[in-house]
Amino acid sequence: MKGMIFTEFLSMVETRFGLDVVDRMIEDSRVPRAGAYASTGTYPHEELVAMVGALSRIVGVPVPDLLHAYGRHLFDKLASTFPQYLSHASSAFEFLASVDGYIHVEVRKIYPDAELPRFARHVSDDGRTMTLEYRSPRRFDALAHGLLEGALAHFGEPTTVSRQELPGGDGSLFVIRKTAR
Ligand code: HEM
Repeated sequence: MKGMIFTEFLSMVETRFGLDVVDRMIEDSRVPRAGAYASTGTYPHEELVAMVGALSRIVGVPVPDLLHAYGRHLFDKLASTFPQYLSHASSAFEFLASVDGYIHVEVRKIYPDAELPRFARHVSDDGRTMTLEYRSPRRFDALAHGLLEGALAHFGEPTTVSRQELPGGDGSLFVIRKTAR
């Protein structure tokens, strides 16, 4: 997983919980290199999983809630780092529809070793409901949930999002509904 995903996580933990918690989390999770990550480097995603698990034990917040909050935070960071990936879209649905076939494709051109999830999408005939099937062997479902809510907030469209496990156990189905204005 790209170093930027780690450095942003550490920055969110520091802002929300303070440097002492960052230090304890790094110590308890026994990640190598004392938790030093270069944003351009690549590291095993298991190190992020270990840190989130340790943080959950320290602050008493469930892992999925922490990953969800991190997704919201990360979206804002990605949007400010890569504004060119947002300018093509004029609505949240248009943007979300482009994550799999455009944004993550471009990400792979910059970082050939990126580990990216797959999203299959469907939009209802009336254009008010979108389903996104998230699949990844890394199972960052809650992170995906936070990222997509970050995108919806960015475009400022009133929507509701629900999530359920996919039957095969390899991801989640997100249902995004536009709510009446
Ligand atoms: C500006 C928009 C976006 C950019 C530039 C972007 C870029 C990236 C990058 C660089 C990674 C890390 C890959 C790695 O570490 O190897 C990543 C992972 C990921 N992205 Fe995106 N992304 C964007 C939007 C989104 C959105 C809106 C979603 C959700 C709908 C999403 C879902 C994910 C997930 C869940 C991962 C973690 C890897 C996994 O689940 O296997 N991304 N993305």
